[in-house]
Amino acid sequence: MKTPPSRTLFLSGMDVKVYPDPEAASIAAALLIEQIVVDARAKRGKAVLGLATGSTPKRVYAHLVERHRTGALSFRDVSTYNLDEYYPIAANDPRSYHSYMYEHFFRHVDLASNRAHVLDGTITESLTEAHAALFERSIEADGGLDAQLLGIGRNGHIGFNEPCDLTPERAITLGTRLVELHPTTRADAVAEFGGMDRVIPRALTLGIATILAARSIIMLATGAHKAEAVAAALLGPVTAQVPASLLTYAAPRTTWLVDHAAARAIAQA
Ligand code: F6R
Repeated sequence: MKTPPSRTLFLSGMDVKVYPDPEAASIAAALLIEQIVVDARAKRGKAVLGLATGSTPKRVYAHLVERHRTGALSFRDVSTYNLDEYYPIAANDPRSYHSYMYEHFFRHVDLASNRAHVLDGTITESLTEAHAALFERSIEADGGLDAQLLGIGRNGHIGFNEPCDLTPERAITLGTRLVELHPTTRADAVAEFGGMDRVIPRALTLGIATILAARSIIMLATGAHKAEAVAAALLGPVTAQVPASLLTYAAPRTTWLVDHAAARAIAQA
């Protein structure tokens, strides 16, 4: 796998690498993750990855699995923590992010099952706060996230941290918690759930504070339908109404990997 050619922009203090297509951007993301695993293993004897689901990272997982198949990359000393999970949902429900991760990544690599962490969509509601706190403590006990892979919602969300009225200073302190999904997020999940009334309207999500604490943040955005959100996050004001704009708080540690279509509205910047 070779690093595909890219054009680099520097926006809001962040490197934004623009690739010709989603495949090239995904290869770049997989190579970056591999490098982070190799470096973390050399430094600390292990690596801790924050992972995302959705349609965007599927190709990234396919490339990481391919690297594993060829013997180039092992996940034996890697721990993973997923960004989010619908709530309530059973792990074995085909629409759960547990199922997604198993299908696209976990079952294909040598990651120990007790090191693959996904928020539990079956936890009793009164215990979700304690569950979220425990999830965060596990990340800390593991030494923190070496990398957090992110996608961006059409409304600018990261994880399931949806647009909100908080000040940016308050929004960046948000921890892992149970949230209501934004109408745009629910609309985007209609195909997956087979109807608006069938979309699970709540989810557990890693907090913005937890995301921003990662030693490295990789935002992958592909497709014309993401162009507006990408432009709002990179060219607009830093606001909790566009949660991805809050990544500027971790600007030196954040890399955007976008394809040509998603970069449409920033290309002239
Ligand atoms: C998924 C997640 C979401 C998605 C975002 C983009 O774990 O946290 O923030 O990354 O909704 O989804 P796709 O890639 O399906 O467009």
